[in-house]
Amino acid sequence: MSYAIIGFGNIGKALAKAFARRGIEVSVATTRDPKSFASAAAAIGPTIIPKTLAEAVKADIVFLAVRFEAAPDVAKALSKWDGKTIVDVTNAYGVPPEELGGQPSSKFIAQAFSGASLVKGFNHLGAATLAQDPSVQGGRRVVFLASDDDAATGAIGTLAEKLGFEPIKLGGLSEGGLLVQARGNSWGQLIFKDLVKFD
Ligand SMILES: NC(=O)c1ccc[n+]([C@@H]2O[C@H](COP(=O)([O-])OP(=O)(O)OC[C@H]3O[C@@H](n4cnc5c(N)ncnc54)[C@H](OP(=O)(O)O)[C@@H]3O)[C@@H](O)[C@H]2O)c1
Repeated sequence: MSYAIIGFGNIGKALAKAFARRGIEVSVATTRDPKSFASAAAAIGPTIIPKTLAEAVKADIVFLAVRFEAAPDVAKALSKWDGKTIVDVTNAYGVPPEELGGQPSSKFIAQAFSGASLVKGFNHLGAATLAQDPSVQGGRRVVFLASDDDAATGAIGTLAEKLGFEPIKLGGLSEGGLLVQARGNSWGQLIFKDLVKFD
C-alpha cells in the first residue's frame, strides 16, 4: 500500500509527522516544485518524500489536505481515480451550502474524484493537536471516520491504528459523517472534540 498527502501546509505537515513517527513512507505534494519544500519534508523525517502532484497521486491512499476550494484542482490530476481511496481532511467551513447543492461537503468532493472511494477523516482536530503524538497518557487519540464504503473505512481504520490513533467509525457520509462536517458557518458537533480512548 502506498500513501500520499496532497497539501503540505498546517494539516499536511501534521499528517506527515504522524507517518514519520512510525517510519512509514509517504509522498507529499503541492502545486509547487518538490525541491521548494524538500527541506521542510526532510526536517520532519526521512520517510517524507517530496514529489510532484502528478507523481504523488499514483499512491493507493491519498490524503486531501488542501483548502476545500482547491479540491477540484487536485481531482484534475487524474482522469479516473478507480481503485484509490481519498481521505478527505478538508473542512468546508464558510462555504455556502447551496454551492454544494445542499450535499455534505464530502459527497461534493467524492463526485470530483470519479471512481475513488472516499473516507472523511482526520479533519476534526486543529493541526497543532493532530501533529502531536497520539499516544496520550497510555491512551490513543481518537480520529473519526465516515464513508459510504465499508471496505475503505476498514483500510483507513487499519492505517489510523498503525499511526497510533484510535479510529471511531461514524457510518455513512450523510448520516454520522455529518457530525464531522462543517456546513456553512457552523461546525459539525464532533469537530474540535479531542478525545482519547483508554483500554
Ligand atoms: N489548519 C487546521 O487546523 C485544520 C484542521 C482540520 C482540517 N483542516 C483542513 O485542512 C485543509 C488544509 O488546511 P491547512 O490549514 O493545512 O491549509 P494551508 O496551510 O493553507 O495548506 C494548504 C496546502 O495546500 C497546497 N495546495 C493548494 N492548492 C493546491 C492544489 N491545487 N494542489 C496541490 N496542493 C495545493 C498548498 O501549497 P501551495 O499553495 O504551495 O501549492 C499548501 O501546502 C483545509 O481544507 C482545512 O479546512 C485544517
